Amino acid sequence: MAANHEIPSYLTPHEIGPWGVYLEQIDRVTPHLGNLSRWVETLKRPKRVLIVDVPIERDDGTIAHFEGYRVQHNTSRGPGKGGVRFHQDVTLSEVMALSAWMTVKNAAVNVPYGGAKGGIRVDPKTLSNGELQRMTRRYTSEINIIIGPNKDIPAPDVNTNEKIMAWMMDTYSMNQGSTASGVVTGKPISLGGSLGRHEATGRGVFVVGCEAAAKRGLDIKGARVAVQGFGNVGGIAARLFAEAGAKVVAVQDHVTTVVRESGIDVPALLKYVAETGSVAGFGGAERINDRSEFWSVDCDILIPAALEQQINAANANKIRAKIILEGANGPTTPEADDILHDKGVLIVPDVIANAGGVTVSYFEWVQDFSSFFWTEDEINQRLTRIMREAFTAVWQLAEEKNVSLRTAAFIVACTRVLRAREMRGLYP
Ligand SMILES: NC(=O)c1ccc[n+]([C@@H]2O[C@H](COP(=O)([O-])OP(=O)(O)OC[C@H]3O[C@@H](n4cnc5c(N)ncnc54)[C@H](O)[C@@H]3O)[C@@H](O)[C@H]2O)c1
Repeated sequence: MAANHEIPSYLTPHEIGPWGVYLEQIDRVTPHLGNLSRWVETLKRPKRVLIVDVPIERDDGTIAHFEGYRVQHNTSRGPGKGGVRFHQDVTLSEVMALSAWMTVKNAAVNVPYGGAKGGIRVDPKTLSNGELQRMTRRYTSEINIIIGPNKDIPAPDVNTNEKIMAWMMDTYSMNQGSTASGVVTGKPISLGGSLGRHEATGRGVFVVGCEAAAKRGLDIKGARVAVQGFGNVGGIAARLFAEAGAKVVAVQDHVTTVVRESGIDVPALLKYVAETGSVAGFGGAERINDRSEFWSVDCDILIPAALEQQINAANANKIRAKIILEGANGPTTPEADDILHDKGVLIVPDVIANAGGVTVSYFEWVQDFSSFFWTEDEINQRLTRIMREAFTAVWQLAEEKNVSLRTAAFIVACTRVLRAREMRGLYP
């Protein structure tokens, strides 16, 4: 994978990971960039990579150290923007790829940001609340030198939420000496968060899902939906599809897989997961023992909403869905993309499908700057309009150029980023 690329010396070529997937996606778009392709190398190198040590004192008096990252992939179109992930498998390659997908996503939906991402290599479930707070605050202090409301604005991602954003905002503000609510988005409403932000990513997945279903002549009412990952993105997308009359027939999380032919009671499952932390043991569905069987579940719409590279050459052939909505970032490898394309499966790529989160994060940032807050209706209407327009533009370009929606989204986005780069010129 990505064998013909110069890999930075700080990445191990044989463990190229998600960054390799991203490079291959850039290779696929390059022939469509015309004269701008002379700038394409810009997209293959993150602008800035910060690796930090995050030491904390544990509750038992011992000292623990965690690896932390913040990567700013590109800031040609505006400040860096992207989430912070707490997960035991976080690597530099992963954070680099996630930051690059943010560059592409922000340009694809035309919000005025570059791309960035951060993470700590930790399983937060092993920390007490106090340890989690100390780790979050120390990490924020360490990356303080490169973040800020006009520089780079973090947000929630896997295993981070409103509470973590509140601590990040407070830590940054304490270091500045004044409250800086615009330094992170996805904050609690009472600290300058936006109405609709918590639901925004799942809502965006639902909005583009309805558009894609209409193109394929699929009625959402009665459609069979399978969801991998039942957190912020997967849980809310599942709820909205169920409310629209779809049947959520399978859900997989990090612990187990549950199925129900007649449709899972999604509000009941959400309540159960909020109480127990997982779908495991939920009484209203059957458990499947073999996790890999999730991919062959009979469904119309499949929503990967967990981690990268979940849909790959090993399982793509088993997939029976007509439409895949990429709630997660980078869930499909390029090999799987090709297999699914040949099978006629419509994939709405992550950089469009899950862009609802960053879109409402943008609204939150604008509201914080102006200290004037909008109603939830206004937010959802603006979100829906941006998602529909982005989907339609990408759909039309895909038809015109006879390329996948992913390549079309990358054409729109990379053209915007590289045009900005060209107009700004190289410093000095
Ligand atoms: N939160 C956002 O606003 C947002 C925005 C855009 C994209 N995303 C992407 O969506 C995905 C999910 O993020 P989230 O915020 O919902 O995270 P989350 O922490 O709220 O939920 C993650 C879910 O994935 C499940 N999961 C973890 N590992 C798994 C595995 N190996 N197999 C199956 N399920 C697994 C967890 O059990 C959990 O249900 C990530 O790829 C993230 O980058 C999130």
